[in-house]
Amino acid sequence: MKSQLTLEQKYDFYERSVQNAESEVAFMHDEYKRIYGRSPFTLREDFCGTGAISCNWVQQDKQCEAYGIDLDPEPIKMGKERHYSKLTKAQKERMHYREENVLKTKAPKVDVICAFNFSYFIFKSRKQMVQYFKTVRKSLNKQGVFFLDIFAGPESQKLVTDVKKLNGLTYYWECQHFNPLTHDCTFAIHFKDAKGKKHENVFTYHWRMWMMPELRDILAEAGFSKTIAYWEGDDEDGGGNGEFVPAEDAENCDAWVSYIAALT
Ligand SMILES: C[S@@+](CC[C@H](N)C(=O)[O-])C[C@H]1O[C@@H](n2cnc3c(N)ncnc32)[C@H](O)[C@@H]1O
Repeated sequence: MKSQLTLEQKYDFYERSVQNAESEVAFMHDEYKRIYGRSPFTLREDFCGTGAISCNWVQQDKQCEAYGIDLDPEPIKMGKERHYSKLTKAQKERMHYREENVLKTKAPKVDVICAFNFSYFIFKSRKQMVQYFKTVRKSLNKQGVFFLDIFAGPESQKLVTDVKKLNGLTYYWECQHFNPLTHDCTFAIHFKDAKGKKHENVFTYHWRMWMMPELRDILAEAGFSKTIAYWEGDDEDGGGNGEFVPAEDAENCDAWVSYIAALT
């Protein structure tokens, strides 16, 4: 059955549950500066959805410019209402939504490209992933970084539902299908609203679950000079503390989320 949520609720619930644009922008800025010794100014946000990250990016500095790329007019329209509308006139001039395919975008070269919330998992063959990573590399300036996020761990391949209670909202992340031979998988997001009504399959994703080592190999094949894997620090209760640092070894957690940075 089709969800009864309005578009405003659909994107409000999504962003409250799975996105923290401010911390992602801070992470990319700080890591770029650590790597190249200067601040980055231009960003391309692939699979941008509402462009929350891009709109946050242009607020950092008057030299910051961003391009949000998404195929689908619906999240772009909602992003213009939710985020772009809150920017100043000068910030709006530096924020560009582009309704385009990431494989064919004509956006100019930038310092940073990001692909977050695992959106690049839609590319299921190695050939497609090499092609995507090559186009990203060509679109980066000489001092460029491509940031990807990734989730994995044995628990993430099980048909289970993670539940997160937020203020007046419950978020469900369900693994509905996982093929161990191909890593083809289906994940769905459900929500329960403040009135206790559950909305099933508000977002569904048909992906290949890629692993960290194979992605780093493909990034090298696509011409990136170096990749950095990150790992999240621990909080006092055995969870993540939200701080990601470069790492080459880590505890074999049941389920984890992390980042990769690929340097031009
Ligand atoms: C999982 S959402 C991610 C939204 C946002 N990046 C985030 O972090 O929440 C995936 C988005 O990718 C878009 N998309 C899928 N394939 C695409 C492609 N080839 N080019 C551009 N956008 C694409 C979809 O329209 C959707 O808005």
